[in-house]
This record gives sequence, C-alpha cells and structure tokens, in this order.
Amino acid sequence: MTVLFLKCVSEDVTGRTVTEEDYLKSIDELTLYYGYATLSDISQILGTRRQSVYDEMKILLSKGLVNRLDKGEYALTDVGHTEANKFLRKHRIAEILLSEVLGLPWSQVDQEAMGIEHGITEEIASRVCEKYGCQICPHGNPVPDTKGHVREVNDLAYDELRGLTGVKVSRVIFESREILQYLESHRILPGTALPVRNGIPFLREEEQAGEIPTQVHRALRYLRDTG
Ligand code: FE2
Ligand code: FE2
Repeated sequence: MTVLFLKCVSEDVTGRTVTEEDYLKSIDELTLYYGYATLSDISQILGTRRQSVYDEMKILLSKGLVNRLDKGEYALTDVGHTEANKFLRKHRIAEILLSEVLGLPWSQVDQEAMGIEHGITEEIASRVCEKYGCQICPHGNPVPDTKGHVREVNDLAYDELRGLTGVKVSRVIFESREILQYLESHRILPGTALPVRNGIPFLREEEQAGEIPTQVHRALRYLRDTG
C-alpha cells in the first residue's frame, strides 16, 4: 500500500533520532487510517530505512507492544496503545502550545510539534492545560491523560455516511501535511458543516462544489449534522 499523502518528508527527519515513541505513534495513526500498519508505510512516515523499521518491529513484537495481524500487517496491542497515548498526550499538547502561544498555522502545528514533543514534561503539560484547556488538539483529537487513557469519541468514519445529507467534521485522524494543507485551503476544520451525497462529503458551494478526494475524506471523522 502506498501512502500518497506522506506524513513527513524525509528531509524533515534527517538527523532526528527516531524513538520507540515515534514508532508507536505512527503505527497508531496508520492503523486508524488504513486498519493496519505496514513496514513500508512506517518507513515513509518516519523517513527511516526499511531495515531499521524491520529491526524495531522485532523489538516492539518482543515487548508485546505490537501484534502481527497478517503477513506484513501490524497493529498496536492494548499495552502498545496505552504507551502510544502517553506520547500522543505530549504531541497534542505541543500542538496546542504552538497554536495558542505562537499562532502557527493550523496545517503546520502537527509537523512543528515533532520538534518539541519529546521535551514536553508533565509540568509544562499541566500549565498548558490550565491556561488554554487541553480537551482536544487543534485537529479535534482528544488529549489522553497521564496514564494513557483517552476519551472515546463516537463519531463516524468515511464509510458510515450513507443515508445522511449533511455532516460536521469531528476531527482529522491522519494528520499528514498534504491533507492538512488541503483542508486548510478549503477552510474545512473541526466543526465545519459539509453536504453529503451518496455517502460522500462534498465541498460547499462557495468552495467550488466538488467531491472531497477519497484520501482526504478517509482521514476525517464526522458527526451527524442535525442543524
Ligand atoms: Fe498531530
Ligand atoms: Fe493534532
């Protein structure tokens, strides 16, 4: 499977140490987006060599953090999920900090957060939460607690929209730069209402009505628009 909307480009991670936390976060995101993670998709997201991914996956399997679902397809175990969530807390709080304090553009905060997320201590996290609130990241994803528990969100996936005429965007589950740029340029953010035809969300009339590309709308979760 090819990740056409790359999460990071390799030059962004050149020289950056890729940690176990980075692997867990990538596997979590890929599994939400595709249903599983493959070695090549992880390698593309992290900008690391496939051999390094292969070696790291052996370690994660031996630690019980990852399961092999099928040949070449992996997902997090419950323990792996909890560990990924502890890191996602830092990542999403870093996004809130960059957005609220520095005013970085919405489509850039995910990428820029990668530069500071490892340094977010619980002292910093709790101050950010106190000052700006930390229920959700700027892309609508819930911020886990310190133990790695996260609030369940009852929203709809891209293939659950049949029969609906309108939805509101709940969150972006695959925050690739290209997807975020597309959404920002079309002013589609959490809370944005979109018309639905035959189970597919469309751009609003004022945004040159047209189908939202499959790879973008798969990256979104939706709420029924009752308004
Ligand atoms: Fe993010
Ligand atoms: Fe986010």
